Amino acid sequence: MALVGCGSAVPSASISNDQLSERVDTSDAWIRSRTGIAARRVAGPDEPLTAMATGAAAAALAHAGWEPQDLDLILLATSSPDDLFGTAPLVQGCLGAGNAVAFDLTAACSGFLFALITAGQYIASGAVRRALVIGADQLSRWVDWDDRSTCVLFGDGAGAVAVEACDAGSTGLLGFRMLSDGRRNGCLTLAQTQDHVPLLGGLTNQRGGFAAIHMNGQEVYKFAVREVPAVLGELLEATGTSADQLDWLLLHQANQRILDAVAERFAMPPERVLSNLAAYGNTSAATIPLMLDEAVRDGRVKPGHLLGSSGFGAGLSWGAALLRWSGPGTPAAG
Ligand SMILES: CC(C)(COP(=O)(O)OP(=O)(O)OC[C@H]1O[C@@H](n2cnc3c(N)ncnc32)[C@H](O)[C@@H]1OP(=O)(O)O)[C@@H](O)C(=O)NCCC(=O)NCCS
Repeated sequence: MALVGCGSAVPSASISNDQLSERVDTSDAWIRSRTGIAARRVAGPDEPLTAMATGAAAAALAHAGWEPQDLDLILLATSSPDDLFGTAPLVQGCLGAGNAVAFDLTAACSGFLFALITAGQYIASGAVRRALVIGADQLSRWVDWDDRSTCVLFGDGAGAVAVEACDAGSTGLLGFRMLSDGRRNGCLTLAQTQDHVPLLGGLTNQRGGFAAIHMNGQEVYKFAVREVPAVLGELLEATGTSADQLDWLLLHQANQRILDAVAERFAMPPERVLSNLAAYGNTSAATIPLMLDEAVRDGRVKPGHLLGSSGFGAGLSWGAALLRWSGPGTPAAG
């Protein structure tokens, strides 16, 4: 598949570290030095995930020069759907992409990369010709805004990438690896609340509902700085790629210290490590396409550039993909 278009959308309201310190016992200096984050976007009640995801999707369609009817598949990576039955069909409806099947994929902060790889398999099999892969999250709905150890980290956003079948020689997905470890699930959860309600007779029912995000920050940090270099290193070796052949590192934006540690492991100079953490914080499934869209539009990422990408997060889940950006106007296969 070729990566031929991208787009993004974020809520208009931005909350700075100083503003946050009016609510919880924290400071701009602490947050910046530990995470690299300076501000985050937060959606209001009238800005549902569907609208943000649709905005990013429409921008990616326009960038690729496609009509909504051209789409065969819409994959929405999210952990904060508007509807637990699926938000991708709502996005499909808003776009008017009547020929596309649309469904959600949940893998937390690895979600976008896993969805992109999944779309790549449908394209490789010949089942799909054109797909839109969206990463969108509004974790502001699910953080405890009185828990300073988590509320400073997350923000809302959406990004999307348009992918289509292409000749084998110009593929945008040169290799990938995906991993999960459910034994370490407890490190980072957005788990169901235990809310038992009497039903009838002796029967008790579990009512639906979720607790706020719970995280063991130090464990997640250690996981990321160990597993991300490992999985990227394995991928580079498997594809016969050396780190200096990469134009960019495009990592999930969780913490600047994690980005720096991974870059150091591959001796990548800071100017080749994409980062927009300062403005957006961790937007979960959205970070990678949001970052890609920014870097494509400001001219840093150019057609033909090679990107080493890695997503990681709750599950635990993590993975890596070697990507080549084509941009609009790439000739499609057959
Ligand atoms: C969350 C994280 C920034 C915390 O940094 P840390 O250096 O590990 O900090 P600790 O958790 O050890 O806490 C150190 C102290 O800072 C305090 N602290 C925590 N959050 C704080 C905040 N927002 N402001 C001020 N102090 C804070 C703690 O209470 C603790 O105080 P104590 O020593 O008096 O007990 C860091 O662990 C991290 O980034 N982890 C990865 C998280 C992540 O990326 N998650 C998403 C993955 S997809």
